[in-house]
Amino acid sequence: MGTSSDKKNIVIFASGSGSNAQRLLEHFEHHPHIQVVALFSNNPDAFALQRAQNFGVPTGVFDRAALRSGEVLEQVQAYNPDLIVLAGFLWLLPSAFVQAFPNKIINIHPSLLPKFGGKGMHGQHVHQAVINAQEAESGITIHYVNEHYDEGAPIYQERCPVQPDDTCETLAARVLTLEHRHLPRVVEELLTSGKNSPETPTA
Ligand code: GRF
Repeated sequence: MGTSSDKKNIVIFASGSGSNAQRLLEHFEHHPHIQVVALFSNNPDAFALQRAQNFGVPTGVFDRAALRSGEVLEQVQAYNPDLIVLAGFLWLLPSAFVQAFPNKIINIHPSLLPKFGGKGMHGQHVHQAVINAQEAESGITIHYVNEHYDEGAPIYQERCPVQPDDTCETLAARVLTLEHRHLPRVVEELLTSGKNSPETPTA
């Protein structure tokens, strides 16, 4: 396994539909310097797996035991990732996994963190909470991943209005459009600026 090219390698983790994964697969399909080398899922029924296979990208499915034992870590390390993108991935990564990839794991979250993040805050739960709180705006946060749900350092945020007549579905659609528009660009910037390289001083 692994890659012999000198391109930067992206590994995607996804649990569900994978529309963000799709955008990454499309964006980097013919990129001269960056490639998606694998997509992993905790969910054997995730449509994200099919999306990756459509691009000829290898996939892996794992359970909690494999994640805890370090088996998944080994499999991912074999791909020599420069960036691991959690695109709708619902499980918390174990500390050993997070520590194995300093500044190399990012997540996209469909709210303006630190608002409406944390355990259980995913999918429609996020958008319903935003509507219930009568927020005037919502948006997306792309952030580094640490051992806590949605708490790593923010990299990029983009805002959108919450309309008075919004339902979960209409708000989710508006936010998802932002995700699709910005995730590939932010990933590309991170990989070309070298900001995610542990050798780069962060001060
Ligand atoms: C997105 O809203 C993402 O921010 C969140 O889960 C959703 C995944 O959508 N973490 P998709 O699987 O990429 O279509």
